[in-house]
Amino acid sequence: MPEKGADAGSADAVDLEHLVSALGTRSIVLVGIMGCGKSTVGKRLASRLGLEFVDADSEIERAANMTVSEIFAEHGEPYFRSGEERVIARLLQEGPQVLATGGGAFMSETTRDEINANGLSIWLKVDFETVMARVRRRSTRPLLRNPDPEGTMRKLMADREPVYAKAKLTVTSKDVPHEAVVDEIVLTLADHLFGPGQSNVS
Ligand code: S3P
Repeated sequence: MPEKGADAGSADAVDLEHLVSALGTRSIVLVGIMGCGKSTVGKRLASRLGLEFVDADSEIERAANMTVSEIFAEHGEPYFRSGEERVIARLLQEGPQVLATGGGAFMSETTRDEINANGLSIWLKVDFETVMARVRRRSTRPLLRNPDPEGTMRKLMADREPVYAKAKLTVTSKDVPHEAVVDEIVLTLADHLFGPGQSNVS
């Protein structure tokens, strides 16, 4: 049930049980560039909705018993990408859940089709500065381990954003508390599933 006294148009007014049942077996699939918050926001979104959170990269690492960096270094990117397609297709059979995908996953047409058939995709759109500030803190991303991570990121964003834009829904993830991004996602989902302004109709 929505919270008593919550403003219509605020995330607290959304009937979360109704929202989850409207998903059916579809998963909420978060897509977007490295550092856009797919995992951190995804975990919080899953807990808000009472759904399981699954991180595709972690599942790939578990299946391969290697880290993503090790897979890139030992087998190369094409090998990683084909494993990524298989793992995401399998995970999509286990919905509803919140599924965070790696930043390159949505570039695959096969994966986009799988997500369209079995999920609801949300692009977490962030600006360059926010994303760079986040990814600089961690060195676990093989694509950015080169002399010009900023140039690489600019190029990746330019190449990929038109494809991320094919996601069903877009939420702009600014440098605000994660719970605020979760609120925005909940409202965006409610608008999509129930119609604009119908967030608390059950
Ligand atoms: C990649 C993003 C990473 C990971 C791999 C490749 C990419 O995931 O899948 O390093 O191509 O953008 P995150 O987006 O979770 O960092």
